[in-house]
Amino acid sequence: MLKFTYFGHSCFLLEARGSRLLFDPFISPNPLAESVQIDEIRPDVIVISHAHIDHLADAVSIATKTKALVIANWEIADWLGRQGVTTAHPMNHGGSYALPCGRIKMVNAIHSSSLPDGSYGGNPAGFVLETGDGSFYYAGDTALTFDMKLIAEEFSLKFAVLPIGDNFTMGVADAVKAAKFCGAQHVIGVHYDTFPPIQIDHGAAIASFEAAGITLHLPKIGESVSF
Ligand code: NI
Ligand code: MN
Repeated sequence: MLKFTYFGHSCFLLEARGSRLLFDPFISPNPLAESVQIDEIRPDVIVISHAHIDHLADAVSIATKTKALVIANWEIADWLGRQGVTTAHPMNHGGSYALPCGRIKMVNAIHSSSLPDGSYGGNPAGFVLETGDGSFYYAGDTALTFDMKLIAEEFSLKFAVLPIGDNFTMGVADAVKAAKFCGAQHVIGVHYDTFPPIQIDHGAAIASFEAAGITLHLPKIGESVSF
């Protein structure tokens, strides 16, 4: 079983085969996520898609406290090291790395990726996690791209986590196409409602996916969905 728990914006916990993987930690600056108890998350692994503050605001503090392994691109891993994080593991696009729960692969995303202090953050990424209990794809912040078809060629996904908020990433219409490209019948929407430019109509979003035969899940902050 793959268990997804939503912490707001693009932050979520994925539990698989006894491991706890925290993606894109952005909790303490997000007023919508004030009910989330950061100290109770206790991740084994932190995965960072790109260098923007709304994806790594809490990464240094959680990694320092928990000694979780941090998966990120070379530039972010190097920057984390300079912030005192001793557990960062650098990757780059196309590469895979073996975790106790399975294989994580860094895949393409179309976006930007500067660090909070303005230094170069490398290129943005998505990730596929392949486990003995199934696989899922987290797209990170991205536009729709034909590269997502490569994911369907390599993996059989239980679900995909896709940005749907528009403005900074793809919106709902492109996310429906993305789900078709990567072969996901179930999608969890992220990167919406946090800021005024990305507020969306939940009912309309669910209906757009439904019209394509795909189920869009919009768990509330703190809620879990299992596949
Ligand atoms: Ni971003
Ligand atoms: Mn973002």
